[in-house]
Amino acid sequence: MENFVFHTPTKVHFGKGTIESLHDEVVAIGKKVLLVYGGSSIKRSGLYDSVLAKLNDCEIFELSGVEPNPRITSVRNGVQICKDKGVEVVLAVGGGSVLDCAKAICAGACYEGDAWDLVLDWNKVKKALPLVTILTLSATGSEFDYGSVISNLETNEKLPLISDHIYPRVSILDPQYTYSVPANQTAAGAADIMSHIYEQYFCKDSNLVSDGICETILRTIIACAPRLLKDPQDYDARAQMMWASSLACNGICSLGNGIRPWPCHGMEHELSAIYDITHGVGLAILTPHLMRYALNDDTVERFCHYGKAVFDMPEQADRFAMANEAINKTEQFFTSIGLPNNLTALGIDDSHIDEMAEHCIKFNPGLDQCPRPLYLEDVKQIYRNSL
Ligand code: NZQ
Ligand code: ZN
Repeated sequence: MENFVFHTPTKVHFGKGTIESLHDEVVAIGKKVLLVYGGSSIKRSGLYDSVLAKLNDCEIFELSGVEPNPRITSVRNGVQICKDKGVEVVLAVGGGSVLDCAKAICAGACYEGDAWDLVLDWNKVKKALPLVTILTLSATGSEFDYGSVISNLETNEKLPLISDHIYPRVSILDPQYTYSVPANQTAAGAADIMSHIYEQYFCKDSNLVSDGICETILRTIIACAPRLLKDPQDYDARAQMMWASSLACNGICSLGNGIRPWPCHGMEHELSAIYDITHGVGLAILTPHLMRYALNDDTVERFCHYGKAVFDMPEQADRFAMANEAINKTEQFFTSIGLPNNLTALGIDDSHIDEMAEHCIKFNPGLDQCPRPLYLEDVKQIYRNSL
């Protein structure tokens, strides 16, 4: 088991009615607030009105219209408001895109140059404004981690910004705010949570503690996502998805494991950068193809272990048959919740594969440390296999 340092400075208020903590948490930081949100979902659900009512003694500035796959242009607009108005605290209300945009705004507001510099060089983030979040979609884990992913349409890039300074100070997680998430986004969120686990679980070395956490989260999603497609207001299933999403991306699931290069995310971010697809949908398509590609003598036992622990598969003498069955079950689960299993279904062809693979290798230098090492030609082949 490897050494590690672990520290999550985010205070979580989890459960029904936790918005009651919003006022005290925000004003303890400051009263000049930038409220960041996406399209109209928080207005339709009434959450926007609730937030304004709770903060009626604060001075509120707004940045609305944050896009799925949030753009650096939105970040720049938010940074400008913070600088012009002397904002003291940023409040993000929405899904991962809104939270990610707000994180980059928090960092950009404390930096003199252009916010995109920070995405290209994380060392330039020296401090950030405090961030409070209210999550409305269970998927990314942004509410409980130090990551943000920002798109730049001018350069066709979608890249992470990672810094200890951008952990949310406080996150309010009320599963009821996810009741209105449509079926396709619920399914995409499930795939994203599972992919965060796969990225940490299929590594060269793991330990029993990490394996247990990872396998439990996978089983939780496999149990809860279908329930939500039948009944979007199943509180218990929404609640378990929400807490699973927070745990899955914050590092706690793989403490002590060997190196984790996150190949599926590296490859998916290239697809989102060029085709602006939903992150979880891209992951669901790539995952089984990546798994099949990774299956070899070195990894076969890990896939068998996964099949047994997550899908209750009986042991089989033919190890490759068992491993392949576990991978097929993964793909079948994604299709059973309505996700596609090939890129052609999204209208994507092979025209950008070389460009995406080259960019992916350049910005994900650890891919040669995957259980089956990945180089440029491997990444191209996985994209081709996914068409
Ligand atoms: O914009 P609004 O109107 O709010 O609608 C959103 C959006 O259209 C809607 N939605 C959100 N909550 C809703 C709702 N609709 C109805 N009811 C609600 N309660 O859902 C749509 C998608 O929202 P988005 O925030 O884009 O989804 P998600 O949470 O999946 O975030 C995806 C982004 O996060 C990044 C992804 O790459 C992608 O850009 N990621 C961030 C990570 C992180 N910070 O750690 C890690 C992830 O791996 C991921 O890369
Ligand atoms: Zn993800």
